[in-house]
Amino acid sequence: MRKSKRIGILTGGGDCPGLNAVIRAIVKTAEHDYDIEVIGFLDGYEGLIENRYRNLDIKDVSGLLAEGGTILGTSNRADPFHFPVLQGEEYVFLDRSSQAIRNFESLGLDALMAIGGDGTMAASAGMVERGLNVVGVPKTIDNDLCGTDVTFGYDSALSIATEAIDRIHTTAQSHHRVMIIEVMGRYAGWIALGSGLAGGGDIILIPEIPYDIGAVADMVKTRNSLGKNFSIVVVGEGAKPIGGDIVVKRLIENSPDAIRLGGISHQIAAQLEGLINIECRVTILGHLLRGGAPSAHDRILATRFGMEALHMAARGDYNRMVALQKGEITSVPIEDVAGKTRLVTADHAWTRTAQSTGICLGVAEEQDLKEAFAEAATT
Ligand code: F6P
Repeated sequence: MRKSKRIGILTGGGDCPGLNAVIRAIVKTAEHDYDIEVIGFLDGYEGLIENRYRNLDIKDVSGLLAEGGTILGTSNRADPFHFPVLQGEEYVFLDRSSQAIRNFESLGLDALMAIGGDGTMAASAGMVERGLNVVGVPKTIDNDLCGTDVTFGYDSALSIATEAIDRIHTTAQSHHRVMIIEVMGRYAGWIALGSGLAGGGDIILIPEIPYDIGAVADMVKTRNSLGKNFSIVVVGEGAKPIGGDIVVKRLIENSPDAIRLGGISHQIAAQLEGLINIECRVTILGHLLRGGAPSAHDRILATRFGMEALHMAARGDYNRMVALQKGEITSVPIEDVAGKTRLVTADHAWTRTAQSTGICLGVAEEQDLKEAFAEAATT
């Protein structure tokens, strides 16, 4: 007998801890509260375009809560409107959204649940415009999605980065070194600021405030003059110097968003060693932040998001993304979120906390932080 509804789910973009917990919550709620059938597309929108999927029932999600990664696979290259296809030796980007819609219809689906970050939400907004019923679920370690106070995956990344900083702290102390720890986060400084605060960073450099290397050197010198002969610098991968540029690690030719960041910490180490007489060492945490088991916070958040997404699909509340606002689960139109990035602001509580506790944010102490943010926004 056909179940009351049939929904498809996919996980898109970079993976993060908690994806499996969302999948589990969706399938469990579908079975427990309703009689809804769930199928999972493989490798994000690629699976919908190529009609690759698997059935998901309760036994498929057993034991998934604490598992990292995604059992469905993911892709950050599968935008249905700019889908990379190899022609000869080169990739061309084609609009495959009609194929995705044909597959959705031929599978008799009522709704698609898109679990992803900004790229997935932007693609989903396009699919909504083309008439697909979509429910979004916000994930990313970067925590840079608009409309929600937090994304799942972020808390886990923060914990991993904090633990790494703690470990680096002790060796920095022993060897009297400046240790520069680079974290992911793309153009947003949430991971750097959060882990810098939690890990006792002395200097935190975020993409939202172009840094003055002189101010960074002064902070290290001041600490030395106070007998603290080591310093911890936490830097977001998207940070850049005043008047300078971001460091691009590589360009992924078949990705609609080709830029991959990484390596600014080496530049900072070289610049800093020219200004201070202390050895500077670099640790780039990279994909370490995306792997492994979700934190307790992310397990609960992912489960709440998954449950609510299924309720929304069940009652036909489509084209919205589940969100957390002031501790409560709510939802926002996907179109309001698509193509936007939530950045750290000058008046955010964490920015003010960093400032009041004497952390150097890469600008001279006398410089107005609001101005630094404003200047960055115009460059
Ligand atoms: O968006 C998540 C993220 O991990 C970013 O922090 C990082 O810049 C990017 O993805 C890395 O992507 P990839 O896995 O393709 O190198």
